[in-house]
Amino acid sequence: MNLLFVTSEVHPLVKTGGLADVSRSLPMALHALGENVCLLVPGYREVLAHSDASTVILTEFPYGLLPAPARLLETTLPGSGLPVWVLDCPELFDRAGGPYQDNNGKDWSDNALRFASFCKAAAWLVQGHATPWAIDLVHCNDWQTALVPALLKFWDCPTPSVLTIHNLAFQGNFDAAMVEVLDLPGKEFHPGSLEFYGQLSFLKAGIVHADGITTVSPRYAREIQTPQMGCGFDGLLRHRASVLSGILNGIDELWNPATDVMLPHCYSIVRKSGKAMNKAHLQHKLGLPENPDVFLVGMVSRLTWQKGIDLVLDALDDLLDDASVQFVVLGSGDAEMERRLVHWNSRLPDRVRITLGFHEALSHEIIAGSDLFLMPSRFEPCGLAQMYAMTYGTPPLVHHTGGLADTVSPYLPGKSSRTQSGTGFVFEHAHTYDFSECFRMALACFRDPPAWKKVVHNAMKKDFRWNIAAQEYVALYNRLLPQWPELPE
Ligand code: ADP
Ligand code: GLC
Repeated sequence: MNLLFVTSEVHPLVKTGGLADVSRSLPMALHALGENVCLLVPGYREVLAHSDASTVILTEFPYGLLPAPARLLETTLPGSGLPVWVLDCPELFDRAGGPYQDNNGKDWSDNALRFASFCKAAAWLVQGHATPWAIDLVHCNDWQTALVPALLKFWDCPTPSVLTIHNLAFQGNFDAAMVEVLDLPGKEFHPGSLEFYGQLSFLKAGIVHADGITTVSPRYAREIQTPQMGCGFDGLLRHRASVLSGILNGIDELWNPATDVMLPHCYSIVRKSGKAMNKAHLQHKLGLPENPDVFLVGMVSRLTWQKGIDLVLDALDDLLDDASVQFVVLGSGDAEMERRLVHWNSRLPDRVRITLGFHEALSHEIIAGSDLFLMPSRFEPCGLAQMYAMTYGTPPLVHHTGGLADTVSPYLPGKSSRTQSGTGFVFEHAHTYDFSECFRMALACFRDPPAWKKVVHNAMKKDFRWNIAAQEYVALYNRLLPQWPELPE
């Protein structure tokens, strides 16, 4: 089957979070199952910087489809061999800054136009213009691509579409006046199509019009159908429940401690000794005292309300009261959270190290070198970092929600090492008190070496590879493809 995978980020071309990792690893897993997959991404400056001699121009988009001159380039996703189509429209995408925000963290004011244009280009290709082969199905991801299923319906294109919701909180809602500016059909601006409480909503358009909808964990698929976690879409999602399913993400082969090129010392479940060396390396690199006995607690995260950073900040006084705890963070996001974290860095310079920014290699080093990984997200559609942490023998401490609940088995303090099935530490309610209690439980476990060894071993034994999930996607695609009647004998 020929699949077009439309995404607004993909590792290693451009990444702000887990979507980029999934956009590389899921298509690779689908390809391994024999599917023909091509990606489509916007031509941000970062993406264009990867162009090389193998990049070719496939076509020019027709005048009038997009607001400015645009070409379709074809290149290869580094390290995968997968073809990537790049929407090269400099006016919309070739600028300094991030994919969605400028360098000051402010959303680009023309995001509606940028991503509506991306969706139009995708839908035009799905219609069969300029493509070397017919596209059987288009797989869209998050609001930036969610107009595609709607455009296909408006343009009477029968090609089926799947929309994966990686995070329902990001909806792509814009002023109603944008319907006309974006040249969308005015008659579709009603609550059964594009309208969401008086605004134009890209995500709603996708949820209404996609033939199949998935989210990235089974539990999150149930949660978003409740008023508490549905972000205003729960009614619509219940209405579409027959085409909605939760398929747990897998993790990329790049996240394997036995082969990870970003680690100074590789290790595995059978040869765990390299993990201690990574801890020493991390302490050295960050200028912290190199002490194997301290409890090294790590975090790599977007610094936002979703990720529960404030729960950690409110508990830090208590957590760091114990002189044997070191705390390292890599992240960027909310300015106030950044400020509060950095304050701790100056307060306890030999115990706390905060690194602001986005650093792929350091993220691997922290996940490998820490003893405990914190991920107390208020909600978490799937979460990849906790799966990386378990694979790297760094038990995560998580809130019981979404994909965190689906992937982390809770440590049960009363159990013997023989019967202990925990792979991490789980707290029930997103409150500082519950978080602190859970942290204390993790610290007590760390101080009981046989118990700790068992949790680390259980965590590393978990299998988060993509093969099963990719088969679930293929089964879904097959259900959506037109069924040809059997020919008579
Ligand atoms: P989300 O997509 O909601 O941010 P995930 O856990 O699914 O959460 O994925 C986060 C991804 O982004 C992981 O690969 C994580 O290592 C990475 N990441 C987050 N913040 C940073 C950072 N500051 N530097 C490097 N990698 C980061
Ligand atoms: C989103 C979600 C995260 C998920 C990732 C990849 O960023 O917040 O939970 O793991 O997408 O699906």
